[in-house]
Amino acid sequence: MEKVLTKNIRDNREPMWIAEYEKAGGYEAFKKALQEFKPTEVADLVKSAGLRGRGGAGFPTGVKWSFMPRFEERPEQRPAHVYLVVNADEMEPGTFKDRLLMEGDPHQLIEAMAIASYAIGADIAYVFIRGEYTECQRKLQRAIDEAAEKGYLGEDILGSGFNLKMHLHMSAGRYICGEESALLSALEGRRAVPRHKPPFPAASGLFGQPTTVNNVETICNVPHIINHGADWYKGLGLHKDGGTKIFGASGHISRPGLVELPLGTKLSDVLDHFGGVRHGHRLKALLPGGGSTPLLTDEHLNTPMDYEGVGAVGSRLGTATMVVMDETTPIVGVLKNLEHFYAQESCGWCTPCRDGLPWVERILTNLEAGHGHPGDIELLDLHVKLLGPGKTFCAHAPGAMGPLESGLKYFRDELAALIPDDQDTLGLTQPANAVSNS
Ligand SMILES: Cc1cc2nc3c(=O)[nH]c(=O)nc-3n(C[C@H](O)[C@H](O)[C@H](O)COP(=O)(O)O)c2cc1C
Ligand code: SF4
Repeated sequence: MEKVLTKNIRDNREPMWIAEYEKAGGYEAFKKALQEFKPTEVADLVKSAGLRGRGGAGFPTGVKWSFMPRFEERPEQRPAHVYLVVNADEMEPGTFKDRLLMEGDPHQLIEAMAIASYAIGADIAYVFIRGEYTECQRKLQRAIDEAAEKGYLGEDILGSGFNLKMHLHMSAGRYICGEESALLSALEGRRAVPRHKPPFPAASGLFGQPTTVNNVETICNVPHIINHGADWYKGLGLHKDGGTKIFGASGHISRPGLVELPLGTKLSDVLDHFGGVRHGHRLKALLPGGGSTPLLTDEHLNTPMDYEGVGAVGSRLGTATMVVMDETTPIVGVLKNLEHFYAQESCGWCTPCRDGLPWVERILTNLEAGHGHPGDIELLDLHVKLLGPGKTFCAHAPGAMGPLESGLKYFRDELAALIPDDQDTLGLTQPANAVSNS
């Protein structure tokens, strides 16, 4: 299959620096965009290609760009700055795909950001990058410096009148910094707590100015859409959604790593690319797209791995980086570890998330240790409802409930079997008529 995003990436991840990147056709898409397209035409092309966000939610990128206010016809009303922010926080458990793109082909990201900035009218672009990704930072900074020296960044780029500055910002290392509005707060030097929406970032984002936030992998698709067109891009997918995807696998898999495949590739085929479940074992469950995506099991092996396909079986494609578990894995341990992470990473703003997640973690810890109480499974069900979509300020808590809800659905008996039956804790097992008011 045709490699698109990873075609320049070598096994040792030593990137093409600018001369080699240009020789391989790099920056041609940016030149073409500046010379042949108006900004809105770039956005329209991305919209017709059907590119969807690769950061987890799958929102259509061209549609997001179309929300940005336009100042071409009224330059006097242009605000001080318009921003593009690339989300490279990448702290979702199990997710390590953006790192490959930044380490292996930093110029692809810079060219893509330059085109995206042109499309939305941004004059300043940030990469908000995970603090631990020091190798990515070093390579991206060198590539930004090279691009600026070559005149692809700066003032009046290639005589087009378009200006763009690009900066790296190292994240403080909290999962919530990846939530786009918390990310903007962090970038402003404030505490990383999510903001109320509306206003959406396109209306009032970084420093109150129009802003678009996109994921690294999302943006990296853009030069290829410019070079080859919307129909080519749509044709890359095998099912409903167009394009390719970087799939990842970790856990009980023979060859953990990353591979670029068409969107819509069947789950069993994706697993085959990683050598399948580790030798001698069978699949018990997997998180299809990172730690906040509901579990799938071996009954879902025929699922087309794209937004629609995974959605149709009750989960989410998320970041498409799977965590694989074989039949030796106690599901209670998986859920406890995930909920421990989410409880620690709550920003503390709203009560169901701040107080509910530690409760969930404690119940699972007790179950794992054999100290569960009758009623624990029902208490977990209740938390799934109380922390679900719409009950909290941002998607952190509902995301944390994704694996738990699916764990209760597919592995209820396994979890219930952990509760010792000789306990009568808190009187919960007493029949109602045994409680006397006298
Ligand atoms: C708690 C939380 C953490 C997130 N972390 C990331 C992240 O590390 N990287 C990312 O691209 N998106 C992350 N997102 C999604 C972003 O809020 C946003 O939807 C995304 O960056 C938009 O880019 P896209 O449309 O290109 O996917 C996170 C969302 C939540 C709720
Ligand atoms: S859901 Fe959690 S992380 Fe999101 S705002 Fe509320 S407390 Fe913060």
